[in-house]
Amino acid sequence: MEVSPFPFFGPLRADQVEGRHELIADLTARISARRVTALLGPRRYGKTSLLRRVAADLGAGGGTVLWFDLYEVQSMADLAIRLDDGMTDVGSEVGATLRKVAIGANLNLGLVRLNLTGPSAQRPDPSAVVHGQLQALIELSKRSPLVLIFDEFSSLASVDGAPGLLRTHLQNHYQEIGLVFAGSEPSMMLGMFTDQNQPFYSQAELIHIEPFSAMEVEEIVTTGFERTGRRSGDIPSRIFALTGGHPQRSMQMADMVWRLTEPGEDATTPTWERAVTSVRSEVAGGLERLFSSFRGPERAVLRIVASGGSIFGSAAVLLDLASGSAQHARDSLLDHGHLRKRDGGPLELTDPLMADWLRETLPA
Ligand SMILES: Nc1ncnc2c1ncn2[C@@H]1O[C@H](COP(=O)(O)OP(=O)(O)OP(=O)(O)O)[C@@H](O)[C@H]1O
Ligand SMILES: [Mg+2]
Repeated sequence: MEVSPFPFFGPLRADQVEGRHELIADLTARISARRVTALLGPRRYGKTSLLRRVAADLGAGGGTVLWFDLYEVQSMADLAIRLDDGMTDVGSEVGATLRKVAIGANLNLGLVRLNLTGPSAQRPDPSAVVHGQLQALIELSKRSPLVLIFDEFSSLASVDGAPGLLRTHLQNHYQEIGLVFAGSEPSMMLGMFTDQNQPFYSQAELIHIEPFSAMEVEEIVTTGFERTGRRSGDIPSRIFALTGGHPQRSMQMADMVWRLTEPGEDATTPTWERAVTSVRSEVAGGLERLFSSFRGPERAVLRIVASGGSIFGSAAVLLDLASGSAQHARDSLLDHGHLRKRDGGPLELTDPLMADWLRETLPA
């Protein structure tokens, strides 16, 4: 079976990352210059994939890059385990150095989970473990150039004392250690770096990851088709018109059109129409479940925005949406990244396929 040139599930391998040339160069330069950076963007915009690529580039340049996935981290003990996972997932040479410094910090590298779930009398204090881990990382940075990537950093906001502990250790070493924080809960993530009461207030330069440009979609789709002996015709612009450059949705559409195009053939208008129908039916169930998880006013706001109306206009009257609840629902949807506002543009749904599904099934 031929492998699709348009993978659209989960983070990509570094070598699968397409486009984003300027952003990759910019991030690599910032990290190399030890400018602490936070990468913000909605779900499925390609943050993890992009950072994997940047990590691979930096690693190839001779640095040590450690990756910490903080997705849904729940507690200090959980954080210690995530840090341990990141610290054990390194090459043999750095691994040996890291084991040495870990012993100095009284740490059992690779055994943190075991230690923290052992008999309560022997269980170490999770904060002390994290303290030791951070000390070990700082020690490591004195021996070889070190970059730390924290993905899903916003999850840390809900662990009492964790951001403060991290900041206390790292702040005196910003010049020596490359630091990147990525996250997708827009308001949570922004708040961690812009709210004066937060430990990381003003501690990082914020970079926003944008949708693909029309040119990027054109380049990605055209080369993917060409590489596999097909021609994409006007499909790139059709994809962009539907997805607005949403990275994962653009790849998903490209994948479906590609599947429906035989090798040696051109994708045509009927191919596009079949692809839209197929993707719509594939995503409908998930979108329906997601949509029904929102509260009433949020559902009304999503419907109105998807149809291009004003949440304070006549559509709101029809849906019985009072202006106070409309405002509140809009803000909450923006906070959680379901809605977004492009520079100077109107409010829109982050997920173009949810907008499409709402227009088709529940126009407002
Ligand atoms: N540069 C890229 N080149 C090709 N595809 C991309 C790129 N960026 C994102 N994608 C598409 O988006 C999908 C999701 O990417 P990724 O998991 O990296 O996003 P994310 O922002 O980390 O998402 P989440 O917030 O869910 O963690 C990928 O499977 C791929 O289809
Ligand atoms: Mg991710």
